Amino acid sequence: CYSPELLHLYDLEGKAVVAVDILRATSTMVTAFAHGARDIFPVMDLEECRAFSQKGCLTAAERNGIKADGFDFGNSPFSYMNGAVESQSIAITTTNGTRAIRLSEAAEEVVVGSFLNLRTVASHLKELQIDVVVVCAGWKGQFNLEDTLFAGALVECLEKSFAFENDATLASLHLYQAAKSDVFSFLKQSSHVRRLENLGIHEDIQFCLQHNLYEVLPVWRHDRLVDLAAV
Ligand code: MLT
Repeated sequence: CYSPELLHLYDLEGKAVVAVDILRATSTMVTAFAHGARDIFPVMDLEECRAFSQKGCLTAAERNGIKADGFDFGNSPFSYMNGAVESQSIAITTTNGTRAIRLSEAAEEVVVGSFLNLRTVASHLKELQIDVVVVCAGWKGQFNLEDTLFAGALVECLEKSFAFENDATLASLHLYQAAKSDVFSFLKQSSHVRRLENLGIHEDIQFCLQHNLYEVLPVWRHDRLVDLAAV
């Protein structure tokens, strides 16, 4: 599914969703858990996110790639390192990534995926042995390349354990296999890479494209994300 806006076409009951926003929401959430975050509340709008500060949460907000005013963090994974989120609860809202998670709540299991925790996500899905829908955050309802490359990387990890159901799955695999030797170069002309580069955001891109840096497994439980690998 290349956009959360298309989720009404999918029956998620009994299925696992892998929600992905490589640049940068799910990469940032995985990084926050890898650096000790206790739990993460992905929320849909700025005011709901701001209200979490009254409950002792750190707050993070991004719109159009830029940190929103009046919040502790934006959406750069580098902000969540160096002890900044150790044992903290974080409420976060981003342009697309948090929507992909919240709109997938009807699924049996919602897992947050990124290249950074690819292998950990694949191992978990092999254990679950239920159908999988990869929900790409995209950009405001539009397809984006990086999230579909992740889907292809995940398909490549799972191809011996799962059957493909549609051409989108096959297309994502071929795309990733064409890109895998140098994903950054493959993405150089993509819309969000150009958008971030125009904002002077460079390091985040290379960082978010690293594979299997962290063994964390953020999953949706009741009203928040927790790291199943830390339990
Ligand atoms: C998103 O939510 O679409 C992205 O994470 C935006 C960004 O932070 O670049």
